[in-house]
Amino acid sequence: MRRVCSRCGKERSEINLPYAKMSLCPLCFQEFYVNRIRRTVREFSMFKPDDRVGVAVSGGKDSVALLHGLCKAFPEADFVALHVDLGIEGYSQHCKVKVEELARNLNVDLFVFDLKEELGFSISDYARSRRGKVCSHCGVIKRHVFEELAERADVKVLATGHNLDDYVALMLNNFFAGNWIQLARLKVVLKPILPRQTVKVKPLIKTPEDENLLYCIYADIPFRDVNCPYAHTSRLRRNREILDFLTKYNPNFKYQALKRFLELIEILDASIKQPELRTCKVCGFPSSGEICAYCRRIEIMVRHDPS
Ligand code: AMP
Ligand code: FES
Ligand code: ZN
Repeated sequence: MRRVCSRCGKERSEINLPYAKMSLCPLCFQEFYVNRIRRTVREFSMFKPDDRVGVAVSGGKDSVALLHGLCKAFPEADFVALHVDLGIEGYSQHCKVKVEELARNLNVDLFVFDLKEELGFSISDYARSRRGKVCSHCGVIKRHVFEELAERADVKVLATGHNLDDYVALMLNNFFAGNWIQLARLKVVLKPILPRQTVKVKPLIKTPEDENLLYCIYADIPFRDVNCPYAHTSRLRRNREILDFLTKYNPNFKYQALKRFLELIEILDASIKQPELRTCKVCGFPSSGEICAYCRRIEIMVRHDPS
């Protein structure tokens, strides 16, 4: 039997959304996707419709879909794309090409921070100089570079492509580990504590990961199709599998978990004393110690001298 779209009632439905009890055709799905981004931004007052907003675009399906969806949802806003070229062999060049193509298509300004050019070392150099997992170090470097890029692009709001699945898995991780401070930092809108910090917003927290992929395919958005060679199976991935399993029995499970975690975060935020921040004596950005985690990593690399 031919199933018709639950929205327009005309076209053949292709996308089944059990949590919304809907089956949509490709055009209605794209509208639904963009409307959810608009609603999420408004619900959490992430930015004003005519703000200038930086969007961190890695080239992965989530962040390219985010930039595209934001441009459709808020045509009057001023979005700029921020990209960190990590210099990972067989990976970063491909990501950058996709981001450049998207920025051109959307007529959006693109700011790129090239690690190798600007710092003298790439993440591949970093990985060669140390044993162990490189991802967390890469994360520290990226988070700092986002702030530098935001200054260059003159934006005070930074949007990232964290999706529903990642976000709830991360919340669960911190919950089980009793990392209350980290959990409290998972606010949907993270306000700056010190100057030179942006407001961090996550407009895709209500968007399941597979819908970002579908949106990229239906809206013909360029995205990377290679994986980072340093990606590894983590506890986060196992939590995601647990959440997927539970979602099979209750299609709304991830949304229910998100709602409760956000309530918990409000309570935690009101009761936890955040560690005091000062400014790093090397770079001047916020830091919990005298020298920030980013500058400490740079120092290691300069001492190691990858050249
Ligand atoms: P990840 O921590 O890799 O899952 O990335 C989370 C979000 O950070 C992505 O959705 C992007 O918004 C942003 N991001 C990650 N890597 C980069 C990058 N190399 N350049 C720009 N943004 C990035
Ligand atoms: Fe940073 Fe893979 S993107 S280690
Ligand atoms: Zn520093």
